[in-house]
Amino acid sequence: MNDYLAACLALPRAHGLLGRGFASSSWDTLPPMRWSKGDRVDYRWDLIRRYAFAIPTDEAVAAVAALSPLVEIGAGRGYWAHLLREAGADVLAFDTYPPRYADSGWWRPGDGEPWTRILRGGPERAGRYPDRTLFLCWPPYASGMAARALRAYDRAGGRRLAYVGEDAGGCTGDRAFHAALERDWRAERDVDLPRWSGVHDHLTIYRRQP
Ligand SMILES: C[S@@+](CC[C@H](N)C(=O)[O-])C[C@H]1O[C@@H](n2cnc3c(N)ncnc32)[C@H](O)[C@@H]1O
Repeated sequence: MNDYLAACLALPRAHGLLGRGFASSSWDTLPPMRWSKGDRVDYRWDLIRRYAFAIPTDEAVAAVAALSPLVEIGAGRGYWAHLLREAGADVLAFDTYPPRYADSGWWRPGDGEPWTRILRGGPERAGRYPDRTLFLCWPPYASGMAARALRAYDRAGGRRLAYVGEDAGGCTGDRAFHAALERDWRAERDVDLPRWSGVHDHLTIYRRQP
């Protein structure tokens, strides 16, 4: 089990919420915060800043690693890329961060070093690696990053996508991205993830429709 998942399971009430043995394929939601002597402790943001937005499981990491080689856009602090590399996957991971901590808007200098090597690059990089599986984990919903990455990848002949996030209308990927998924891509596999309360993210593996 990875450290992020272990930290989640150690949260107060998490055991009750997640059910027996944590082997269930349908994870329940995690409590995002508690009140401690009047102070609000936001577990979710503490752990996101340390690890990632999405909570990886062995099953999810294995499912994505099986699609190696991978090109990840928006890798953030690189926790998923780190686990994927540990699982033996060949991952090229890009983000506008880490070189631009200050203006990334997502991370703070105090969040620490990335978990693994992240290269600086944007969505256009996806178009350079059509022979790899495109991996997008929590692409922003308020920018065209995911749609641009998918378009560049598609135009270059890319055929496989692993996407961790919410469905259309949710908090990941913009409208154009979800429209392209609906129109041109076929979901082949869905993997449940542990979820923070109020969040509905999951892993879906897509193949480009012929
Ligand atoms: C919600 S975070 C998700 C990060 C990581 N995948 C995770 O799950 O923790 C979105 C990430 O996308 C990156 N990002 C935003 N716009 C980008 C762009 N145009 N090109 C590359 N990365 C971008 C941000 O720097 C941030 O790390």
